[in-house]
Amino acid sequence: MKPNSADAVVSLKMSAHCDSDELAEAMMQWSSFTRAINLWFHSAHTLSKGASFSGDHELLYHEIYTTAQDDVDAVLEKSVGLTQDEATACPMPVTRRALEVMEQYPSPSDASCLSIACSGLAMLKNYVAGLENLYKMLDDEGLLTLGLDDLIMDHANRYEGFVYKLQQRVKVEMRK
Ligand SMILES: [Fe+2]
Repeated sequence: MKPNSADAVVSLKMSAHCDSDELAEAMMQWSSFTRAINLWFHSAHTLSKGASFSGDHELLYHEIYTTAQDDVDAVLEKSVGLTQDEATACPMPVTRRALEVMEQYPSPSDASCLSIACSGLAMLKNYVAGLENLYKMLDDEGLLTLGLDDLIMDHANRYEGFVYKLQQRVKVEMRK
């Protein structure tokens, strides 16, 4: 699959029918994608470079990777709480799946500052789109608890904010 595609492997899309196993699967996809953002943007933070180094390193990527780190915690705890399936918080499959997500995008290593911003933007756009799919699926299936509703909304709001910041970051580079 092409990098930057909206059809990332982990897209948080679920089948029409959803039982408790599918809820567990959806929650694992969500936590894995969030972990991927955490890991990828941590490296973007470390590998920031060029004239935009200070802003990218200290503010933009630092904020995103530390936010995602806290968000993984919240999603994993919600997952165990709702499914009572501790396998959904096992670090091995979550990390493996996070790698699968990251492999859909260029590495921030040996990349220009603009390439890093573009790849990160694509990842976060797909994440927000995935949250919308997740929300609709859970709502359709009657699985959307008030707390889960709030958590998804909270993520969508914050990551839309990150998309805005990265869009502006890319614009600056492309339009002088
Ligand atoms: Fe650092």
